[in-house]
Amino acid sequence: MAEDELENLPGVGATIAEKLREAGYTDLMAIAVESPSKLSEVAEIGENTAVKIIAAAKEAADIGRFETGDVILERRKNIGKLLTGSKALDDLLGGGIETQAITEFFGEFGSGKTQICHQLAVNVTKSKEDGGLEGHSIIIDTENTFRPERIMQMSKALDLDAQDVLKKIHVARAFNSHHQMLLIEKANELSKEYPIRLLVVDSLTAHFRAEYIGRGALAERQQALNKHMHDLMRFGDLNNCVIAVTNQVAAKPDAFFGDPTRPIGGHIVGHTATFRLYLRKSKGGKRIARLIDSPNLPEAEAVFMVSEDGISD
Ligand code: GTP
Ligand code: MG
Repeated sequence: MAEDELENLPGVGATIAEKLREAGYTDLMAIAVESPSKLSEVAEIGENTAVKIIAAAKEAADIGRFETGDVILERRKNIGKLLTGSKALDDLLGGGIETQAITEFFGEFGSGKTQICHQLAVNVTKSKEDGGLEGHSIIIDTENTFRPERIMQMSKALDLDAQDVLKKIHVARAFNSHHQMLLIEKANELSKEYPIRLLVVDSLTAHFRAEYIGRGALAERQQALNKHMHDLMRFGDLNNCVIAVTNQVAAKPDAFFGDPTRPIGGHIVGHTATFRLYLRKSKGGKRIARLIDSPNLPEAEAVFMVSEDGISD
């Protein structure tokens, strides 16, 4: 969105626009869905002014748009499924990972989140008959854990040309949460050039967690994360693309949630992700995946393997 869009709202001058941006309201949608009291607090404006600004943002952001069921059905007909390499894991997900949805892998270190992301980037290049989506991928790497060597191993195991696969994976390091969010805009540009069918954010929450510290920063963190998730969702819808994100469980109690096995980002990530898989380590390279949240599938578990060849049963 254009930088000056906030200034185009009635009652928003340079000063208020600056305050809004600093508070994380960088586009119209973020303002459109905010409450007048919160907006008046962060921008130090009267509540009546806030009401007017929000109303204008709603109109400009086209927030009140409804779609009829047949249009949604038509779009959903195009939903593709990307296979993971493990039949058990695919079955758990109702036949693979759906496009037009966010799938979240959460679990402790070494549970296989990054390995799955690598495998998906390889698999997405395959033909549809072979469980791929004949596409390219974008990986937003926040922890510098992308390893082309792993892609080569996984490609070889599948008899794929490793160089060809590597050329279809577009990787960007994200240096902080702000950068991470901006990279979605870059992803939008890239998607005009290449058939992007997979977008990975590994890790979704690490930067947010490191940067927004303490109870006071929680509301802001959730706000930013919420916007990020919605940008991802939109990218998935527009490009008929799989969105795979990873999330660590808080090793020590989060400031917000006491439970150490709860994923970071709490209800914001939880409610926006369509599928959530909780991964844990088991004996001898085995991993257990538990489907936590799904609109149409039962909560269940699957066992899969992580090996040099990648993800398998
Ligand atoms: P964090 O990012 O630290 O939270 O962990 P993660 O869930 O992303 O873990 P990741 O997917 O990186 O899994 C790492 C684990 O995968 C290692 O501890 C190994 O058990 C396994 N692994 C990774 N590469 C190989 C490999 O080449 N061969 C085998 N056998 N196992 C591997
Ligand atoms: Mg990882």
